[in-house]
Amino acid sequence: MSIELEQPDLVRDVAQVLISEEQIQAKVAELGARLSEDYRDRTLTLVSVLKGSLPFMADLMRAVKVPVRIDLMEVSSYGGSATESSGLVRILKDLSSSIDGRDVLIVEDIIDTGLTLNYLVRYLRGKNPRSLRICTLLDKPARRLVDIAIDYRGFTIPDQFVVGYGLDYGEFYRNLPFIGVLKPEVYTRA
Ligand code: IMP
Repeated sequence: MSIELEQPDLVRDVAQVLISEEQIQAKVAELGARLSEDYRDRTLTLVSVLKGSLPFMADLMRAVKVPVRIDLMEVSSYGGSATESSGLVRILKDLSSSIDGRDVLIVEDIIDTGLTLNYLVRYLRGKNPRSLRICTLLDKPARRLVDIAIDYRGFTIPDQFVVGYGLDYGEFYRNLPFIGVLKPEVYTRA
């Protein structure tokens, strides 16, 4: 389903700031320090999933002190709605380089049902990486449909649809520097 939002009022449409810019930056620094320690003396390949993970990827890669390569994938789930994932995943952009024998970390914005990531993990495992771990900024466990072992987790959040710091509603709100909850009337307006 595609939705057309007309000129959303980015800040006024937010009912509540769930995670502030400062809290995000502190968490990114903490995750970066853990990764730098865990991957000491190794090189790391960060694979991020467009578009929502873009700000997290950009910040996290600069917080990691070991040599990193980056690669980007884009997937779309189809058959769902603007706020619900369907579990059917289509690859819109594949990896640019081989990950054979590499230490790979998937960098995700949010894990909700887990269906997207479950697909991605199976896909990337088939490409024979040396190791494959998962780092997500947000974990929304309430709606999980598949069991996923998350190696690095930023924040566990309640079952609310959130926007900002890369996350969108109808492709907007990605540029908010914090993570917030939209006012219900924004959904009903679309
Ligand atoms: P999953 O397959 O249900 O785990 O959903 C993963 C994808 O759904 C994420 O990468 C997001 O693009 C999107 N998504 C899930 N929950 C939210 C949310 O609260 N806000 C914005 N996007 C979300």
